[in-house]
Amino acid sequence: MKKVIAALLTISLILVCLYFGLRPQPEPVAEVTGLIDAPTLDDIHTDDGQTIVGISMPDRLLERWNKDGSYLRAQFEKKGCKVLLRYANNLIDTQIDDIVDMIREGADLLVIAAVDGSALTEVLDLAKSANVPIIAYDRLIMDSDVVDYYVSFDNYKVGVLQAQYIIRILDLAHSEKPKHIEFVTGDPVDNNARYFYNGAMDTIKPYLDSQKLISLSGQVNFYETATAQWSTDIAQQRLQIILNSYYPENVTLDAVLCANDSTALGAVRALESDYTQKNPVAVTGQDGDIANIYNIINGTQGMTVFKALREESVVTVALGLALLDGKRPAEDLIAASDWDFKCSYNTTDYDNGKKLVASYLLEPITITADNIEHQLFDTGYYRRNSAGLIYAAK
Ligand code: GAL
Repeated sequence: MKKVIAALLTISLILVCLYFGLRPQPEPVAEVTGLIDAPTLDDIHTDDGQTIVGISMPDRLLERWNKDGSYLRAQFEKKGCKVLLRYANNLIDTQIDDIVDMIREGADLLVIAAVDGSALTEVLDLAKSANVPIIAYDRLIMDSDVVDYYVSFDNYKVGVLQAQYIIRILDLAHSEKPKHIEFVTGDPVDNNARYFYNGAMDTIKPYLDSQKLISLSGQVNFYETATAQWSTDIAQQRLQIILNSYYPENVTLDAVLCANDSTALGAVRALESDYTQKNPVAVTGQDGDIANIYNIINGTQGMTVFKALREESVVTVALGLALLDGKRPAEDLIAASDWDFKCSYNTTDYDNGKKLVASYLLEPITITADNIEHQLFDTGYYRRNSAGLIYAAK
């Protein structure tokens, strides 16, 4: 009997191997190394005369990109454009495929928030070969001489604001004994993360150098404090390890400088679960995500840097329509607008490795428990529904 079973198993194993051996292997994902033919005009299927705008966003995981996509789509559609909106799940290859697809579908303009700002060089050459203007949205696209414009916030200033908050709230200018800080930086492939880090470090470095501020973990440089994909879980786990390794019962932690709200959420969770001293810890963030708005109101997060995404989309749409109209705007785009918010035009500071990219920059603002009602609710950016729950209103 055993011999029969062994024989049957052997035959099934042979059949399985034959199946997988003979099954046509899935086509390897074509790398954008020239293997994708540049779409010729007859490849491109445009609707009869309708302007097509391709919008490529990094992911839906972070609250803000869903808002960005909605704001941009609504405003371009309101102007009669057909909008192709794609989210890349934070996957570089998916974003490249999304962009190729949108070119093939006839996009007349591309608005791209890069997953990895250094990975789009070749696919953007493809866009240029199809004469499609390109706006780098929120994150500077690097290593490409065909990026036409960059629209974002002053991201270096985001880091400065975070550091200034910590310097103020810890009263470092007057504190006698050293305070302790840990750093949670952003996704290392996100070009903005470096701007945030540099702004914060340039501002806080004098206090690290003078030992008025000490990181007991010793983790201060960009890569050892980075958080892949801005992940809340990764930030939480890393901080839990630091708390359990460097902050025993009698050692206090005074601040955690987090680059954005998703990582700040992880930091607050780590402090709740693994920090026993229970002194207030100053936690910074960025984006004004709803969960973090609650945490600022309840005191577990000290501040966030708010960036009015609707205003970022208003500038982007105005710029996009000007490009579609064959114009190459500069300050005149701002001068001709009726915007009730500050926007600056910059042609000197955003070198993407191939060119200085003409940029429109909006102003980030510090939000704390002291000004949150005035800055976010009185202005209508956020509202409370009849149950008192907070939602982003514009
Ligand atoms: C950055 C963006 C920030 C924030 C972060 C992820 O590129 O500028 O506003 O969204 O990604 O939270």
